[in-house]
Amino acid sequence: MKLYIINGPNLNMLGIREPEKYGNKNYETLCKAIDEYCTSLGVEAVFYQSNHEGDLVDKIQEAYFKGADGIVINPGAYTHTSIALLDAVLSVKLPCVEVHISKVEEREDFRQVSFIRRACVATITGKGFDGYLEACDILIGGKRESQN
Ligand code: DQA
Repeated sequence: MKLYIINGPNLNMLGIREPEKYGNKNYETLCKAIDEYCTSLGVEAVFYQSNHEGDLVDKIQEAYFKGADGIVINPGAYTHTSIALLDAVLSVKLPCVEVHISKVEEREDFRQVSFIRRACVATITGKGFDGYLEACDILIGGKRESQN
């Protein structure tokens, strides 16, 4: 099983950006935690981070063409603006889980919109880095169920 772990703009700044909201640990630490978790479950994790919307679209399409089983995505601020990312997930029809480190539902009004959400099988917010592991669990569980 192979999962794509896609992070959008400014998530490369984890550990530096607003630590009171996103914590003190950096992006490399996040990827290491996910990689160790997936490896322990026999799952391959492919990591990607970009600050550019079109590059994120390309990576979602790549997930499809390279035979991924699912996508974990934190689209960052593109969550609240991007129909292109929504369309990309709808195009590939891969199970996708939306993750936010912070509890977006308790933040500003403009963060209450998520275009990508309607294309996702689940949304996890406010669980910090653990939210990504939970997202992997959902996709792994879904794949097992579809095999039974
Ligand atoms: C975020 C929440 C978004 O509103 C914000 O723009 C981010 C990070 C989160 O992980 O909590 O960049 O997706």
